[in-house]
Amino acid sequence: MTKTDIRHILTIFLIFLVCFIFSQKYISSLAKIDKNLYNIGMKYIIITYGCQMNVHESEKLAYICEKLGYTPTDKREEADLIIFNTCAIREGAEDRVFGNVGALKKLKKMRPNIIIAVCGCMTQKEQTANYILRTFPFVDIVLGTFNLANFAHYIEAVKTGRQLEILKEGEIDETVPYKRSDRDNAWVNIMQGCNNFCTYCIVPYVRGREKSRKEENILKEIKEIVEQKKFKKITLLGQNVNSYGQDLKDGSTFSKLLSDICKIDGDFSLTFMTSHPKDLTSDVIDVIAKEKKILKEIHLPAQSGNNRILALMNRRYTREKYLSIIKEIREKIPNCKITSDFIVGFPTETEEEFKDTLSLVKEVKFDGIFAFMYSPREGTVAEKMEGQIDQKTKKRRVNALLRLEKEIQEEKRNGRK
Ligand code: 5AD
Ligand code: SF4
Repeated sequence: MTKTDIRHILTIFLIFLVCFIFSQKYISSLAKIDKNLYNIGMKYIIITYGCQMNVHESEKLAYICEKLGYTPTDKREEADLIIFNTCAIREGAEDRVFGNVGALKKLKKMRPNIIIAVCGCMTQKEQTANYILRTFPFVDIVLGTFNLANFAHYIEAVKTGRQLEILKEGEIDETVPYKRSDRDNAWVNIMQGCNNFCTYCIVPYVRGREKSRKEENILKEIKEIVEQKKFKKITLLGQNVNSYGQDLKDGSTFSKLLSDICKIDGDFSLTFMTSHPKDLTSDVIDVIAKEKKILKEIHLPAQSGNNRILALMNRRYTREKYLSIIKEIREKIPNCKITSDFIVGFPTETEEEFKDTLSLVKEVKFDGIFAFMYSPREGTVAEKMEGQIDQKTKKRRVNALLRLEKEIQEEKRNGRK
């Protein structure tokens, strides 16, 4: 072989090598696109029930759906993937889910390839999850509250059969971002779960024990939101934001978190929900009073104005303590909007005890209240209590409370004229 021959062979080899490398790159980029190719043109819809926590979690589900190639629609009939993110707080919320899932039977018959998923607080209860699987054989995926970050996996796995998974506990997911859907407000979850076990409430059973996100992760997320300059308002979310950080055991507290967030440069306002009166300490009230970025508004559920009922509810504060917090807020933040939640018809609540709720509402003159009829939740302490109140009495009491609330708001409006 001459020197020229060897040069030719080497050149051909080099050309071959370069072609090989490029073709591999091309194939792998095609494969990446191809992963989502089968969902191109496919549409998804998420139907969300319940609190802001669920609304925010649906933003994570939306991100996952879009990553899989689906595009959003607001029409169930044209969706290829229908997701119900459910709420278990009262019976009414559950009944609506059953009705709306049941209504999809015809659609699934006409279009057997659509995927129907039910997830969230309702399906975290194993009995309800099994009931849904039994009653609605056309539902493809049933997940609990701790499985949502892995949603893409279940969509893939559904090809092999129906998917049911309910993890008992789960870490806070820091890996999947959100597709933020609100125009002005960005939700930021700071903790999950609840340790309070109010005797009427299902939340600790379906959301697990309190777990706080690390402050550095929350600050990083908020800095990114502020840098986008899209959102005017940031709302921190947790079942009981005032106990933020207690589980981290590194000195984190809610008031420190609030003041550290306010140090972030940028034009935004900050608010949070929900507070528990037993944990709303003076340092939190002081930070709200001091920081310009924090909106002057607090949602502080009282639930009842009667001490015996508050004790039965395991709320761990008295009417007097609640009123003293209101006094402190009004002294330190005179223009603060205060709103509240109340439950009427808790087991054994007498007419006199209900009147204590009316008198508390009259005394505080809230800027708004939500009034609920007590709804027994399976597995909670109150569900097993003697002296359950009949529906007619609950209705009468809730109407009386709402009437009083209307009068107070009218009075306030007239006073302002
Ligand atoms: N029945 C009626 N209302 C309830 N809430 C929570 N659990 C129940 C129940 N079992 C109300 C409380 C809470 C709000 C979010 O829902 O007032 O603050
Ligand atoms: Fe339920 Fe009470 Fe926890 Fe609120 S604080 S989520 S009412 S248990």
